[in-house]
Amino acid sequence: MRVSIIGTGYVGLVSGVCFAELGHEVICVDTVREKVESVNDGDPPIYEEGLEGMLRRHLSEGRFRATTEYDDVLGTDITFICVGTPSRADGSLDLRYVLKASQDLGQVLRGKQGRHVVVVKSTVPPNTTRDLVAPALQKASGKTPGEDLGVAMNPEFLREGVAVDDFLSPDRVVIGTQDDRTYEEVLSLYEALEVPVLRTDTSTAEMIKMCSNAFLAARISLVNELGNLSKALGLDFREVARGVGMDPRIGPLFLRAGCGFGGSCFPKDVRSIRAQARALGAGTDMLDATLAVNERQPLMVVELLERRMELYGSTVAVLGLAFKPGTDDVREASALTVVRELLRKGADIRAYDPQAMPNFRSLFPQITYCGSVKECLRGADAALILTEWQEFSEPGLYGQMPVVDGRGITKTNNYEGICW
Ligand SMILES: NC(=O)c1ccc[n+]([C@@H]2O[C@H](COP(=O)([O-])OP(=O)(O)OC[C@H]3O[C@@H](n4cnc5c(N)ncnc54)[C@H](O)[C@@H]3O)[C@@H](O)[C@H]2O)c1
Repeated sequence: MRVSIIGTGYVGLVSGVCFAELGHEVICVDTVREKVESVNDGDPPIYEEGLEGMLRRHLSEGRFRATTEYDDVLGTDITFICVGTPSRADGSLDLRYVLKASQDLGQVLRGKQGRHVVVVKSTVPPNTTRDLVAPALQKASGKTPGEDLGVAMNPEFLREGVAVDDFLSPDRVVIGTQDDRTYEEVLSLYEALEVPVLRTDTSTAEMIKMCSNAFLAARISLVNELGNLSKALGLDFREVARGVGMDPRIGPLFLRAGCGFGGSCFPKDVRSIRAQARALGAGTDMLDATLAVNERQPLMVVELLERRMELYGSTVAVLGLAFKPGTDDVREASALTVVRELLRKGADIRAYDPQAMPNFRSLFPQITYCGSVKECLRGADAALILTEWQEFSEPGLYGQMPVVDGRGITKTNNYEGICW
């Protein structure tokens, strides 16, 4: 199929390159010219394992390209909307990019004879595709949903850091749409994958994505709270978790305690579903607690370090700035909270991350960035580990330096774990 993608960020670029990998012809559209040029040069503006090689191959084989021209969508059969949906101050999602993309796309589709399918892949609050996207498309294009305009919602479950693998080997594909023809068209894109497919309406598909993230975020906060308690009891929560996870109703995955969740999805999506629940007068106790625990959790590493030493005037090595390993994304990373707190307490900071330093530097230009773990530890009084990059795991790196490990990646001579 000929596929176009609006929004060439993490989801748009990974989806685009992976659809090309599945044999489709793909065009990615973005409003940011430098991003488009960089993609067309074979340099992904984001770091994801395996993405660059795949992008270069599909560019050279002519199966993939990026553009700033919406008109190029006219040569395709199906368009995915993958633009950002950031948080507003009240926690609800800012849907202006989704609306603008729908309107601009609709305008272009006015010039198309025959049918086109539009699929929302951005994470949006339940009812957005039905109440915002479909009407905007209909108004701008003059086409009627269900006839010459197919509308669907196909949430994306990929995890940054392993995004390419996740896209090509997903647990499930959810296709929300009101009509059979659109369902078959979207389904055909995933034909090459052996994967369970769930068909729903668009609002249920949106709610599945929101609930999945709320569920995972709540699980992490529960694990972190129980992890803090285990530590207070003098217990190693990792061992506790092994026993807990043997219950098949609980399962062994996602039981790692640590210094909190971050990224562009969990915090934003939990705030969004909470804002929607509040607007409807539904209860939000679990969602409130999930977020409250997560706001405090990164501060635990600072507190543990402070119990051992005076932070004012000390030099602290911060290892790991990305919200998780395998990505350069620092959106809502635990390191943001930790660095802010260390600065507030008067510490000097040396930081290192194999991928995320340029993104972090744009937010915190005043700290010292280092070229390696060794360089970062040189001259530091203590180290905090905030991301599970494997290169932080070598105990010999740390000598006798006090280390507070927020991720359970190592065990050094002078060591303290966050929940163990
Ligand atoms: N990042 C993830 O791991 C992930 C996973 C699943 C779902 N999602 C969801 O997918 C959506 C996109 O997330 P992302 O992380 O890829 O965002 P992103 O910020 O990395 O990318 C969004 C892109 O859209 C472009 N854009 C904005 N308005 C546009 C317009 N009108 N026309 C063309 N391009 C436009 C921006 O320039 C940017 O490149 C969000 O709703 C997010 O919640 C993200």
